Amino acid sequence: MQQKQFFYVANWKMNMKTESALPFIDQAKEWLQKHPQLGKRIIICPSYPLLLALKIELADAALYIGAQNCSEHSSGAYTGQVSAHDIVGVGADFCLIGHSECRTLLNESNEAIGIKATRLFEQRLNPIFCIGESAQEYHAGQTKTTIVKQLEPLIHAVLKTTERPSALMVAYEPIWAIGTGKIPDIQELQQLFAWLKEYLSLHIPTIQNMYLLYGGSVDSSNIATLKSVQGIDGFLIGGASLDFQKFKNIVGLE
Ligand code: PGA
Repeated sequence: MQQKQFFYVANWKMNMKTESALPFIDQAKEWLQKHPQLGKRIIICPSYPLLLALKIELADAALYIGAQNCSEHSSGAYTGQVSAHDIVGVGADFCLIGHSECRTLLNESNEAIGIKATRLFEQRLNPIFCIGESAQEYHAGQTKTTIVKQLEPLIHAVLKTTERPSALMVAYEPIWAIGTGKIPDIQELQQLFAWLKEYLSLHIPTIQNMYLLYGGSVDSSNIATLKSVQGIDGFLIGGASLDFQKFKNIVGLE
């Protein structure tokens, strides 16, 4: 039986220093020469200033790059914000939206994140739409209720757009698993992904390339277990994506 191919999204957050990014990319390029088929499975999401540098550095490597967020506005007097148009302009292929750090630290609402999805669709840029409950919501049994509220604006954005991008990724990241070393119970995770797939297929049957990712403390010690969960198509990796060796161990090929 052919082995399942997963997506690996590196979310560098504001952790990767400029001077460390290029050595990482050099190692990645060398490694991809041996495994060219992997490039189309890896998406690196650096901070904005590094997007263009990575695009240039990676011109010969079949590897995707993505931004970590975008503005809900198309253009205008929004100092400090970056439009979907300009993210495409530097050659990015994907954009994370709705990451819990943006939801909490920047007070981004579900509605605003839905508008961001529309901005990305207008530019035919593939979103990686992040969802996930807090520890409090998890313990109160409100995981699905929270996720449904987070997904509603995405579903609305998809249904009203005619500019559908080629791939829609939804990343489930329980907030209590991000950067904590904890991962959810595997049975629960399996049930959640089965439900998520069913929910999304029911509400957006028109989307063809839909990938469901898991994120939150993914590392080389738990990746084998996580890969065994049915319904997971890939991983969103924070801390363990900053070191090339660690990242390579997660992808799993020498
Ligand atoms: P982590 O972060 O892998 O460090 O838990 C994941 C994320 O926040 O995307």
